[in-house]
Amino acid sequence: MFSRFFKREKSEKEKYNDLPIPANASFAFLGTDMHSHFIAGIDDGAKTIDDSIVLLRNMEAMGYKAVVTTPHVMIDFYPNTNTTIREGLEKLRIAARENNIGLEINAAAEYYIDEYFVELLEKEPLLTVQKNEVLVEFSMMFEPPMLHNTLFNMQKKGYKPILAHPERYQSLHNNFDKYAEFKDRGCYFQLNMLSLTGYYGANVANIAGKLLEKGMYDYCGTDMHHEKHAAAINNVLKSRLYTTLVNYPFLNSKLCF
Ligand SMILES: [Fe+2]
Repeated sequence: MFSRFFKREKSEKEKYNDLPIPANASFAFLGTDMHSHFIAGIDDGAKTIDDSIVLLRNMEAMGYKAVVTTPHVMIDFYPNTNTTIREGLEKLRIAARENNIGLEINAAAEYYIDEYFVELLEKEPLLTVQKNEVLVEFSMMFEPPMLHNTLFNMQKKGYKPILAHPERYQSLHNNFDKYAEFKDRGCYFQLNMLSLTGYYGANVANIAGKLLEKGMYDYCGTDMHHEKHAAAINNVLKSRLYTTLVNYPFLNSKLCF
């Protein structure tokens, strides 16, 4: 009887229940995916070239025309360099061609902001998603002390930071105003598509829903690492969430190389 008096906010899943289920859905409307881990053996994504092929086949079947794959550059775990990524990209392109995969394949990186990245920024040109746009992430648990200075220095050097999956950083969850600060400081935001499905938990789903509602996202990425992600992303095509995504003005389709 009390339920009449307490109006609960709708969960992300419930919000999408009001939308129609799409017929013949595909991600062709995005065209290019700009966050993934398809290069084999250099981070926590594809382990072998066979894994890479399975994931690329999934991307093609879901309607993507191009991918910019983004291996982690994280000194303690995945000490990738421009060379390891470029060499990996060549191998991936050859394997894709041999397997009749028609996707255009490019590579950039997902840079982890820490002391090492501060040095790297001074030393080497960064790999860009397109033009001057660079995908970055930081710790999921805490905000590193050099974060805002580093984002500022990137822009001083002519780069535009794209913050990967802003909805996943726990340090921002209880301070929603901080998201606007990042945007005011010139960052693009990239949504992990699976965040909205609850794949990373209810908190992440709620924040993602809020950022989407406020029109704060610029790009949509799969952040695909393995077949479990591929299966979950395939399910988005059969869900009501798809209608929301297809109507949002993501910049993916404007990417050019
Ligand atoms: Fe990633």
